[in-house]
Amino acid sequence: MKKIKIFGNWKMYLDLSDSVKLAKKIASLKYKNLEVAVFPSALAFAEAKKILGGAKISVGAQNINWAPQGAYTGAVSAFMYKRAGAKFALVGHSERRYIFGEKDADVRQKTEACLASGLIPVLCVGETKEDLRDGKREYRLKKQLLSVFENLNLKSEMVIAYEPVWSISGGSGSEPCKPTRAEETMAWIKKEMKNYLSKEISVLYGGSVSEDNVVSYLSLPSCDGVLVGAVSTRADKFSRLIKSAEKSSNS
Ligand code: PGA
Repeated sequence: MKKIKIFGNWKMYLDLSDSVKLAKKIASLKYKNLEVAVFPSALAFAEAKKILGGAKISVGAQNINWAPQGAYTGAVSAFMYKRAGAKFALVGHSERRYIFGEKDADVRQKTEACLASGLIPVLCVGETKEDLRDGKREYRLKKQLLSVFENLNLKSEMVIAYEPVWSISGGSGSEPCKPTRAEETMAWIKKEMKNYLSKEISVLYGGSVSEDNVVSYLSLPSCDGVLVGAVSTRADKFSRLIKSAEKSSNS
């Protein structure tokens, strides 16, 4: 049975000491049918990895630089994260695209760097509120997928996270995405991906996922897991979310 992916993006919510505390609290979580990964800040990555190394929880990078090593002030490469024990890296997160100005071409370059270094890229795609208003949801997603997958010789695993930008908490006002709408789009993404890959790719849902609504997304036929932001930084809420996800995987 394919394990349900529960990924926690800690963003820039926690300092080093809070990250260590959180890692210690979640290290003892018990589950069988889930694959859990967390994405600490670059500062907290090594400590979190040390604490979670013995647990089943994988650790990933929130952002990577494409060049393996060199004169890139402030950057950490995919290659370095891999050597430090990362399994995954987020690429194309909407906060990177819209706050830090990353373009589709940058996302492609970062995806290739992850694959070359042995990290599993978690490609985030999603339409903005304006895209939605202008009837451009499919246009935006098609463009984001095309720029990464066209002529990409993918031989290893990759994951897609569908995160409607308007549903992400902490930004310009978030509105949870109705599960029916999330299903419609994730099914569309899986269909679209047949243009690029012969085998099915895992698609996660992300955007205001909480311990209260996680099951409504996990029970969707096209949903292979969730990417959780704010709620993943709260040990109590994240533990409840994991419990609900594990329970729903058994039912
Ligand atoms: P959120 O973030 O769960 O806080 O809305 C999700 C994400 O940006 O990955």
